[in-house]
Amino acid sequence: MACSPRRNIVSIDCEALIMQTVQDAPALRAAIRNWRGKGETVGFVPTMGNLHAGHQSLIKLARARTDRVVASIFVNPTQFGPNEDFERYPRTLPADQSALTDVGCDLLFAPEVVTIYPYGAQQSVSLRVPEITELLEGAHRPGHFDGVATVVCKLLNLVQPDVAVFGQKDFQQLKVIERLLRDLSLPVRVLAAPIFRAEDGLALSSRNQYLSTAERMRAPVIHATLRKMRELLAAGHAWEAIEHVADSRLIRAGFVPDYAAIRRVDDLSVPAAHERNGLIALIAARLGSTRLIDNLLLD
Ligand code: PAJ
Repeated sequence: MACSPRRNIVSIDCEALIMQTVQDAPALRAAIRNWRGKGETVGFVPTMGNLHAGHQSLIKLARARTDRVVASIFVNPTQFGPNEDFERYPRTLPADQSALTDVGCDLLFAPEVVTIYPYGAQQSVSLRVPEITELLEGAHRPGHFDGVATVVCKLLNLVQPDVAVFGQKDFQQLKVIERLLRDLSLPVRVLAAPIFRAEDGLALSSRNQYLSTAERMRAPVIHATLRKMRELLAAGHAWEAIEHVADSRLIRAGFVPDYAAIRRVDDLSVPAAHERNGLIALIAARLGSTRLIDNLLLD
């Protein structure tokens, strides 16, 4: 939309329409200080970029809850394992800037590695959240959640938002962050955004673009399997038997599952045999060289 001062038909706050991109901490802090000076609240959505409608839904949620919204794009080296996709992770800054502008983001923080890790990524202070990081994703991606906890803490220290939004797509990550914030007494409220899916059920993910056309057609089997797990639990089957059914179904469809698990929502611990409430199904599986994760609340 044009912000011509001569077109006075509607009053437009031009500042609100322009999304600034900043790379360094002083510029970030100056912008936020300016808003704080006017008594405005700040929401924050951390991302690794290559944004899709799922990320945009998080910005919209923040937008609805706070006066100003800051997003970050930082492909965080410390959360990738040595054989993972750090190098080839898609970096698409110009497209991301317009995706953020479209949903009313006020400020993009896109730092260099040296801003986040002034002593180098390997020499950084590292945070470890116990217990919840040792299972499921943590068991298959050693060190992953240390990297996530560390970078999220650093980003929150930089932005100091009132509210931070995370997606339920990465359910275990959400739980790790909730525990991190509570344990470190960080005064930030976490909002959880629902999983944004394609019409065929596949959860949107930056990694979906690694899939070949044939793999993309098969990928919705993950969501279908999660739904089947929910159906079987509602029909009274034991969760261990359901996990076995899910695993077999994924293998038959050509996936290599890391896990298809039913866990307690609160802490992702293993439920007792009779438990039916407060459970979640989670799947991580490889399709070709692409690793996909998804989950479904079972209540
Ligand atoms: P990234 O994978 O870019 O995801 C950024 C945020 O978007 C996360 O909170 C994630 O759960 C959410 N998200 C991704 N796909 C979604 C979907 N289909 N529906 C709803 N939310 C979705 O997660 C990370 O980055 C990083 O680990 C990060 C937290 C930024 C730390 O580096």
